[in-house]
Order: sequence, then structure tokens, then C-alpha cells
Amino acid sequence: MGKQKELIKRFSKLSKDEKLNIIAQHFPNPDEFLNELKSYYHPDPAKQKLFDEFSENTLTNYFIPYGIAPNFVIDGKIYHIPMVIEESSVVAAASNSAKFWADKGGFHTEIISIEKIGQVHFIWHGNKEKFIRLMPDLKESLLFRTKHITSNMEQRGGGITDIEFVDMSDKMDDYFQLKATFDTVDSMGANFINSCLEEFAAGLKDFLKTSPYFTEDERRVEIIMSILSNYTPDCLIKAWVECELDELDSIDDELTGEEFAWKFEKAVRIAQIDVHRATTHNKGIFNGIDAVALATGNDFRAIEAGGHTFASKSGKYKSLTDIEIKNNRFKYTLTVPLALGTVGGLTSLHPLVGRSLELLDNPSAKDLMRIAAVTGLANNFGALKSLVTKGIQKGHMKMHLLNILNKFNADADEKKKAKKWFEDKKVTVKAVFDFLEKLRSHASGHSEVYS
Ligand code: MEV
Repeated sequence: MGKQKELIKRFSKLSKDEKLNIIAQHFPNPDEFLNELKSYYHPDPAKQKLFDEFSENTLTNYFIPYGIAPNFVIDGKIYHIPMVIEESSVVAAASNSAKFWADKGGFHTEIISIEKIGQVHFIWHGNKEKFIRLMPDLKESLLFRTKHITSNMEQRGGGITDIEFVDMSDKMDDYFQLKATFDTVDSMGANFINSCLEEFAAGLKDFLKTSPYFTEDERRVEIIMSILSNYTPDCLIKAWVECELDELDSIDDELTGEEFAWKFEKAVRIAQIDVHRATTHNKGIFNGIDAVALATGNDFRAIEAGGHTFASKSGKYKSLTDIEIKNNRFKYTLTVPLALGTVGGLTSLHPLVGRSLELLDNPSAKDLMRIAAVTGLANNFGALKSLVTKGIQKGHMKMHLLNILNKFNADADEKKKAKKWFEDKKVTVKAVFDFLEKLRSHASGHSEVYS
């Protein structure tokens, strides 16, 4: 067991080098650790400073691949989609689906709504009916006192769309909410929404204190918290693919298009019935959505949280996709809430986010919703297509071969030989290990076998 670690006092107040040195002491070879971490610094000190300042207590950069899934046709327009993801085969699966659907009409989308939600949660003991009667006055005063926050957003076509009083006192004594809805146009809008909500909380306190209609007791309010909700069921998009059943004939040698479609349909229904399968099914959707969110500087945790809650909206956690096979046609649809932004936050700071948005023709938030949803659908379609035919392990392990070879420090020649050798063989960690061991220990003898 390693040495017990000690509490570090005032860590955040130390300089970056001091932090690095302290953490380095936890490694057997501190200098080696320092050199390794510094080897990931950006060569341009100004850029490195920018990355350092995205977060706190930054020691270095953590690399994750930035790749492209090309050839998506979305509502008739071609996109080459940037994806940031560490998992091998996600970009390949998205690319394969993009290619498959490109000559079958591509992907189709429909934005259903773009509303975001925030809440002021408060405890208040008083006459509810009176509060409800006075709500229009409160609303007017809250809209007025947030003008300094909302005026820019209003110029861009957004703002606060409504504020309502919600009675939650049957769930907890004296618990109420101000529930507000927002249109944040092209921004994700978290700071905007939270600033408005904190102003609402202050406005609510003032309103109760100064309005002549409340009793002494009713003038007291306890604001518990003011925060946006990451559940955005009304920031919703639908994305789908459709084709004739015989257009699916090419998918598998052993299944006709129609047989494939019905097997695929069962897989989707299983994800609607069984919660274990639903979770993995939806995880495959978020493989694509999160990778686009990261590449475009969006908050993937917020998107995942909202997506999973939406998947449980019926009271049972289910697949986010739905399928229809009718009149010889296959139609596969994803419906998902996606609160995304293309301005503000990291979008204007991270150089690669700028490049991602440029490659996507500087999309509006609505367009980015289309792109992210389609990528999620593409990944899920790719996963299900493999699962109901050849299984995912063959393709997955082929993509993973390079990672395994790197783990065993294979050189370029060994990688070339390994790729050829495993073309028609099953990739496992053990098989790759054995292959390399033989190649290395009997270089002359076995190299013939493996070349
Ligand atoms: C792996 O990252 C995602 C899948 O498990 C999704 C699925 O099973 O549908 C392949």
C-alpha cells in the first residue's frame, strides 16, 4: 500500500509550478512526472495560458482525439462532422452510417421547440390564492428589474418567455417555485438564465416586503435556491432516417432487407421494454451527441442529464428512439432534448471549437441541434445494425487493435504486420500479445509466418 497522502493547504493559491512540484512528490520519480506533464503543454505560451484558465488548479492538458465523421447529408445539406471522443469505433460507426444513408435521402430533422427552464425554489407561509392573484404584478416587476440582463438577449430575438407560480406545498410544507421559461437564441444561456433567476429571487423578496397586500407573516420568504434546470423537454428535436425495405438488402448477406428491418425493430422494442438494454442503447446515442458537444464547446453533462430524464418521462426509463415499419418502408426516429449553444462560453475561447463551428458553416443553435441529434442517431443505428447482424466485437476489436499494439509499444513495422495478420483473425489482447512475443523472440523465423 502506498504512503498515506496528506491534506494540502491553500493549494489553489499556489503558482502552477508550485502545484506541479507538490503533486510530483507523489510519484517515485518526480522529475520524470514533471517532464511528462510539461511535454503536453501547448508550444504557444499564450494558448497554454488560455487552456490553463478554462479551469482551476490546471497542471497540463489532457489529450483526446479530435476526428471527423464525413459525408453526413442532413436535410439535403452535406456536413463533415467534428467529433471529440476517446472510444475507438465511435467515429467509424458514425461515418459508416453517414455513408449508408447518404444515398437514401440522408437524415431528416425537425426542431419541435427551443425553450429552456429555470426555477426559484422558495419556502413561504401564506395565502396562496392571494399570491396567485398578485402574480401578474410580481411578473411585471420581475421583468422590469431584469431589463439590464435581458435587453441584449431581446435584441437577438430571445429573452424571458414566461414566469409562473408553481405550488409544490403538497410535496413539502410551504414549498413553492417561480418557474421561468427562456429563449436564449444561439447561446446555451446558462449564465443568462441563472443571472435572471437570482434577480427574480431578490425581486420576490422585495415584492413581498413592499406590497401592501401581504400580512407581516407573509412578508417573510426563504429563498432556497435559484438555478436553471438541465431537464429541457421543450428544447426538443426529432431526427430520422427512412427508406424502402429492399434498400436494406445490402446490410447483411444472410438477411433480406425486410428480415433485417424486423430484427432491428425487435432490438428497438427491447430497449423500450428492458431498462438495462435501454441504458446501453441510449449510451450509444450519446456516444455521438457528446462527441459533437465536446467538439463544439458544449456542456455534454447537461445534455446527458436532460436526455436521460427525458427517456424516463413516462415513469419508466426507455429508449430515446422509435421505429415504424409500414407500407414497405422503414422509418427510424430519435427524439431528444438538446440545449446547445453556438455563441458564448467556450465557443469563442477554445481555438478548436472555433474551427469545428467553421467546418459546420457557423451553425445556429438550432442547426447544431440537428447535427448533434443526427450524429447520435447515426451512432445508434450503426451499433444496432452490427448488434443484430455480425455483433460489435469484430469491428470494435479491429479498431481497438492499434490501442493494444500501442500498449505493447509496437513499432511501425510490427503494427503493419499485425494489421495484416489480424485481417481475418479474432483480435484479443492475448492474441496480440502472443503475436508480438513470437514476432519479437523469433524475429527471423516467425517474421516469415507473420509477414
Ligand atoms: C458502445 O460504446 C455503445 C454500444 O454498446 C451501444 C449499443 O449497445 O447500442 C455499442
